[in-house]
Amino acid sequence: MVIQKICCLGAGYVGGPTCSVIALKCPDIKVTVCDKSVDRINQWNSEKLPIYEPGLDDVVKQCRGRNLFFSTDIETSILEADLIFISVNTPTKTIGNGKGRAADLKYIEGAARMIAEIATSNKIVVEKSTVPVKAAEIIMKILRANTKPGVEYQILSNPEFLAEGTAIVDLVEAERVLIGGEETAEGQKAVQDLCWVYEHWIPAKNILTTNTWSSELSKLAANAFLAQRISSINSLSAVCEATGADVSEVARAVGRDSRIGPKFLEASIGFGGSCFQKDILNLIYLSECLNLPEVAAYWQQVVNLNDYQKTRFTRKVIESLFNTVADKKIAILGFSFKKNTGDTRESPAIYVASTLLDEGAKLHIYDPKVEHDQIFYELMHPLVTSEPERIQKGIEIHSSAYSAVSGAHAIVLCTEWDEFKTLDYKKIYEVMMKPAYIFDGRKILDHEALLNIGFHVQTIGKRLSRTSSIRAQGSQTMP
Ligand code: NAI
Repeated sequence: MVIQKICCLGAGYVGGPTCSVIALKCPDIKVTVCDKSVDRINQWNSEKLPIYEPGLDDVVKQCRGRNLFFSTDIETSILEADLIFISVNTPTKTIGNGKGRAADLKYIEGAARMIAEIATSNKIVVEKSTVPVKAAEIIMKILRANTKPGVEYQILSNPEFLAEGTAIVDLVEAERVLIGGEETAEGQKAVQDLCWVYEHWIPAKNILTTNTWSSELSKLAANAFLAQRISSINSLSAVCEATGADVSEVARAVGRDSRIGPKFLEASIGFGGSCFQKDILNLIYLSECLNLPEVAAYWQQVVNLNDYQKTRFTRKVIESLFNTVADKKIAILGFSFKKNTGDTRESPAIYVASTLLDEGAKLHIYDPKVEHDQIFYELMHPLVTSEPERIQKGIEIHSSAYSAVSGAHAIVLCTEWDEFKTLDYKKIYEVMMKPAYIFDGRKILDHEALLNIGFHVQTIGKRLSRTSSIRAQGSQTMP
């Protein structure tokens, strides 16, 4: 089959950018991205896209209306498509069996049922969402049990490895594309059809093909490895603070070993985002179901360490502020889970902010890209607080860092946005309460300069003190 029309179910952080890049690179293919949320589709068709992602606006502008369409007409899109990406959300279950760990596959199941109900011709159905191993079997069962006469399906696994904040570059210059399929002749033919789509711009050597289960597991494994690196360096950051070692120096030294490599060794307040925690929990649950408790316990520790890091940092903030933040004005800089995205899902800032609010602090929050309503949504969510009205009164959202910090007792930096590095901290110091504190949860600021201005500075994985800074300064001026 030559793929002429692609339908994508789910116009989120993955479906939107992925299909925009496919449309850009495959002008001969018509790509329609569908969502059941009218609001989301309207935003994709507007000037202000529903997600912030560097470079995305340009790609959408080039292709939208040409061979890229955003639509709520799921039926037409499925009917005409040769290949359907399922790119729906797969959150952690919040109720029932496996609650808090297992992936909730209700949206995947919903998508499969929609396809079965609507399709009248053969389709290649591609799991783009991150799913537990063997999810393709569920999709296949639903499709085959509901299929119309003469309609045949091939299910492929094609997990997405993009990272938010660099999604467009990740898609355009993908280090690898992974495609898993059935080891039958029809399965392998479908794999080749999808390879052909990617080969429009990805070198064939970067396209890996495996069996379906390896492909599904590889995505969980990749996220588990990445999160594990963060928890590993974060665990060492606690050792550094207790001993006087500097975690950045340790990371530099360790990362020089080519077997380890320097990337993803930044200590911080912990990982966030919609995927790492969810996918590790998914792997833990899978291991438990497979009666592999040691494997489950191993990966559980990666999540535990991440929770520990967030708690440790927040405790440090409270203890430094004389063990009480009640009625103190605290500026939170950054609310997204990392820079260059407006996504707040599982952002460490949520834990930091909600704990400070519980302690009675008044929070003045600024993030360059997160919508104001989204911050209220996260902090007033029933899973976060049982007192949304009290919480609401404790929050003020600002449109600039300078207005957020004015009159504050402390700044807590939660996201590594570049603009925070170049703020005028002398000016900021002048308008803050004294003693003025900065807690740099991302290790991005010039701590010596801040100490010299007069700030009390705390960061991750390094002991800082005003006296040591003054001593260092003095020694530099000695002949
Ligand atoms: P998202 O929540 O941003 O988007 C999912 C969209 O699917 C929503 O807009 C929802 O309305 C829509 N949807 C649900 N059921 C539908 C149906 N039956 N028909 C049409 N639309 C439907 O989720 P996101 O972040 O795009 O993630 C999607 C999947 O990709 C997840 O499995 C995630 O784990 C995985 N993934 C996410 C990455 C990320 O950075 N966000 C990276 C790699 C994989």
